Amino acid sequence: MTTERSSDRPANPVWQNDTPEGQAPIREGQDWSTWPRYDNAVLGLRNYWYPVGWADGIGRKPVPIKLLGEEIVLVREGDRIYALHDRCPHRGVPLSHGRRQFPETVSCAYHGWTFDLKNGNLCAVLTDGPGSPICGRMKVRTYPTEQRLGMVWVYMGTGPVPPVEREIPDELLDNDFVMGGRSNVRNGNWRFAAENGFDEGHAKYLHNTALWRLFKVMPAWNKTEITKVGPWLIRVQEELHWEAEFPGLGVWTNKRWWKRVPLPDRPGKGSKVNPVIDSLDIPGFVSIRLPGLLRVAYPQFIHYEWYVPVDEDRVRYVQLMARFERGLTAAAFKVKYLAAIRWLFHGQFTGQDAWMVDVTDAPPERLYRPDVSITAWRRLVEKSDPVVQPLPSPKGSPK
Ligand code: FES
Ligand SMILES: [Fe+2]
Repeated sequence: MTTERSSDRPANPVWQNDTPEGQAPIREGQDWSTWPRYDNAVLGLRNYWYPVGWADGIGRKPVPIKLLGEEIVLVREGDRIYALHDRCPHRGVPLSHGRRQFPETVSCAYHGWTFDLKNGNLCAVLTDGPGSPICGRMKVRTYPTEQRLGMVWVYMGTGPVPPVEREIPDELLDNDFVMGGRSNVRNGNWRFAAENGFDEGHAKYLHNTALWRLFKVMPAWNKTEITKVGPWLIRVQEELHWEAEFPGLGVWTNKRWWKRVPLPDRPGKGSKVNPVIDSLDIPGFVSIRLPGLLRVAYPQFIHYEWYVPVDEDRVRYVQLMARFERGLTAAAFKVKYLAAIRWLFHGQFTGQDAWMVDVTDAPPERLYRPDVSITAWRRLVEKSDPVVQPLPSPKGSPK
């Protein structure tokens, strides 16, 4: 069966759904072309540090990862973890298949070209003898790495390397805390994941079936403003509506008789607020910052999620829950994380987000009032460090 197309539609349409008046074109400001840098940042923003996985998961055996569209191999030597471009310049075999023949080196599995982990220099060619003339004349690209928050961080940017602390929220640098986390690769471009995270509208509807929300009630709808505090964009609630009558349809509400706890619209409004979280004085529940870090601040703990670009169609989704306590309270939180939060929040709840990110298909798009959160985020990216990750060259080698 073929679908008839109205003759006045363009071949590459950016039309909204049919309306009684006919088909109205999407106005300027509702297509990604309004955000050219954002549009180009398919593979992420280059001049930032990214967490790429748990440090204790990296051993002497080389581990391949993909970051900003590029293949990288991580290798541990003692306390240090090194990151190299995962391609042997000889015949293009991934160095992640290689062996650890000598300390501080990795040897390609094919012909034994051996690279210095610190600088990527070709320091020996095992199948061409100690006097191999190509030795010292080749190298693979290396990337700066750090270890923070139990994770390996990699910097793929240009120019002077900023301290990794620039990318870590102050509260995680200045206070003691206990944490639990999950990291996995999910379907969807990193921008869909970031937009989903900061999206004002969806949690009230999509997540009203989540077990994490079983006893917590959210408003039916809000009026929201976005404010900037330091590096963060924050969703601030101007109006909260717990139920609404839709003429001719009925009442919509998230209230249920067994849901006793209203979710606070800002963390400081909880009945018992952790002193560290209270001192942050965050005016809203949800914040986002470059290059793609979301913060959801509850009165007692904070959830963070990083959207780390893997390639055009996949994002590394790093979740971390922190509680600013020491001693027994910290130990109890760790148990609670492993027994419940890990699968309730970092599993089933954010699994609903993964589902939506996977099936989002935009542009074209037609935004609505709560999407002020999405447009504010896109504007923030527009003002970011202008270096975006180029699409990979055909052989995947660095330029
Ligand atoms: S392909 Fe790596 S040594 Fe030959
Ligand atoms: Fe969500």
